[in-house]
Amino acid sequence: MAIKNLLVTGGCGFIGTNFIRFLLEREDFQGRIINVDALTYAGNPENLAGLAETYAGRYVFQKADICDAERLRAIFTEFAVDAVCHFAAESHVDRSIKRPDSFIQTNIMGTFNLLEIARSRMDSFQIFHHISTDEVYGSLGPTGQFTEETSYKPNSPYSASKASSDHLVRAYHKTYGLPTTLSNCSNNYGPYQFPEKLIPLVILNALEGKPLPVYGDGKNVRDWLYVTDHCEAVWTIMNAGKKGDTYNVGGQWEMENIVIVEMICDILDEIIPRTESRCRDLITFVKDRPGHDRRYAIDFSKLRNALGWQPRESFASGLRKTIDWYIDNRPWADRIRSGEYQTWVKEHYGG
Ligand code: NAD
Ligand code: TYD
Repeated sequence: MAIKNLLVTGGCGFIGTNFIRFLLEREDFQGRIINVDALTYAGNPENLAGLAETYAGRYVFQKADICDAERLRAIFTEFAVDAVCHFAAESHVDRSIKRPDSFIQTNIMGTFNLLEIARSRMDSFQIFHHISTDEVYGSLGPTGQFTEETSYKPNSPYSASKASSDHLVRAYHKTYGLPTTLSNCSNNYGPYQFPEKLIPLVILNALEGKPLPVYGDGKNVRDWLYVTDHCEAVWTIMNAGKKGDTYNVGGQWEMENIVIVEMICDILDEIIPRTESRCRDLITFVKDRPGHDRRYAIDFSKLRNALGWQPRESFASGLRKTIDWYIDNRPWADRIRSGEYQTWVKEHYGG
């Protein structure tokens, strides 16, 4: 498959940024990337600054909302889009609990718009890859893993909206024959993650000596995958996945939240020794998240056996790299936390 014009949605967010950087360096992709991002609070164009010059003609940014069907259609036409890799979403569970509206709009209606436009261009269209989450499967007890056959039981407005979008993607393949693939991935971590999510939030709060909030008893379990491993999985599935199929993606690193927070503390104490206290003293147990899923665990043997993908990074090395990145990129994080880059976005892109 030689994709000529790949529309990546949400390319200024955490995983989208890593994916665009990953793909532009690969020899097996010589096409053009059209990054469509609405630049919500989670989208930061600074992540990809300079790429349009470095990769002249191979990277284009278009500020657009995937809920704006007319604008999207014009972009598909102008750039002769023949493939989509769809990351754009409202992605934070806590925000979905407070204000679900934008999750329904972007995650469901935005995905619907993209599917409709892709369907209208079927003659020249190669692949629509949809990025989703293991959270659609609901919560596990102490044992077991999600497989691709596990029934959907989403518990938060976020996971319910992602589940809805997954169903739409599946339906567009079954009903219209749209060439789709879908991946359901566990929790990602790594560079450029917005500091509302557990790992970057804890790293940055610890660096500033602020409390490290742990929800409930801290024993909720997530499976963690280094973001570059996720990018490689997505590209593998886009190229070699069976059309209409779903693939689970995981890191094989199940961890309790409290263990992760303690690991971050211990690494930071080693890198930046404190004289009077230990980083762990900052850990603060706080009120639990409503409907908090207890445990996620993912069986990705389908992807490993059928397409030969498996994660490369161990959690210990990935976490250390991530901590180093946040220490080396304090100004990036400071600008986000101060809202400075949001002012910059308004000045440069309007709205
Ligand atoms: P993110 O919140 O960091 O980035 C989302 C991006 O989408 C931002 O750049 C934002 O500006 C853009 N966006 C939001 N609404 C938009 C709209 N209406 N139109 C255009 N752009 C819009 O999210 P992320 O963590 O990078 O997640 C990317 C995808 O991966 C999401 O679909 C998410 O559900 C999925 N996912 C994330 C994880 C994880 O651990 N982060 C795990 C599994 C799956
Ligand atoms: P998060 O990074 O928000 O990802 P998700 O909810 O999609 O899994 O949260 C990861 C886990 O960490 C989840 O069990 C909730 C917990 N958590 C805390 O304990 N404290 C926090 O401040 C945050 C943001 C999350």
